[in-house]
Amino acid sequence: MAKTRGWGTDMSDTAIKSMKLYSQVDRVFNDLRAAGIAGDAPLSVELLSRFDQYHYYGTDAVDEAVERAGITAASKVLDVGSGIGGPARYLADTTGCSVTAIELQADLNDVASQLTARCGLGERIAHRCADILAAPLPKDHFDAVVSWLCFYHIPDRRGLLAQCFATLRPGGVLYVEDLFALGEFTADQQALLAHMLFANYLPSPATYRADLEAAGFQDIAFEDVTGHWAPFVAGRLQNYLAERAKNVATHGQAVVDDMETFYRAVNDLFKGGSLGGARVVARKPL
Ligand SMILES: C[S@@+](CC[C@H](N)C(=O)[O-])C[C@H]1O[C@@H](n2cnc3c(N)ncnc32)[C@H](O)[C@@H]1O
Repeated sequence: MAKTRGWGTDMSDTAIKSMKLYSQVDRVFNDLRAAGIAGDAPLSVELLSRFDQYHYYGTDAVDEAVERAGITAASKVLDVGSGIGGPARYLADTTGCSVTAIELQADLNDVASQLTARCGLGERIAHRCADILAAPLPKDHFDAVVSWLCFYHIPDRRGLLAQCFATLRPGGVLYVEDLFALGEFTADQQALLAHMLFANYLPSPATYRADLEAAGFQDIAFEDVTGHWAPFVAGRLQNYLAERAKNVATHGQAVVDDMETFYRAVNDLFKGGSLGGARVVARKPL
């Protein structure tokens, strides 16, 4: 597997791996094989996008960021918690922008680099394996900082926002899709959040906004999209269960059992009514 330029972080064996979405990450290659694409064959972003987006509503959510953050071919974009690179590739492919994609886990980052090379996007996307809290980022540089379902993993919100703020150019836009707390969690829900979602920071909407203000952001829009996300996670579980035989043939039983457990836990949490989803947009002052 291709090695990538990185800053030396390797979190492959740490607690974040308790989240089953992050085990056996090379399952994307099973999906590609099942779609009739083998080995090192070149890939199109359009085809790959069916399998490489680790957030809700796939590329529609990335289109939303393009619009809200005004991303164009001239934009320099930082993607925080880039996973196996789905959003970064879609951004670069559809807008022509350049992307620095930062991912904590070395195995995900390696898969991301390999897929990006196969899409012919290696010149426009720099994959970096690093903890965003410690990554050496250029000051006043990026036109947009984007992130899907990563911020809630990171306990140090102040440090995270300080990094994002410092690396944005004045007038640059932060676009984040994230989880937050709508209410109190039961003990069972807390256990699911800790062990199945590796959730380390779930503020209320008021705290979410106050943290952004304290970091220096302005024009803050906090949109509660829970009502949009809850049916997505319910449908994702239903579809996965309905296609169990096909999924087992593609991935083997262990992977399918893990993914079902994960999808069920997320669905249970949204059904419980205390877990919320948010789209947050904010600007660094000029
Ligand atoms: C749910 S995944 C989403 C991946 C990608 N944004 C997407 O939508 O396809 C969240 C990602 O954030 C990464 N992450 C968590 N904490 C991080 C940190 N401190 N620095 C960089 N990445 C981090 C995780 O390793 C994981 O790959």
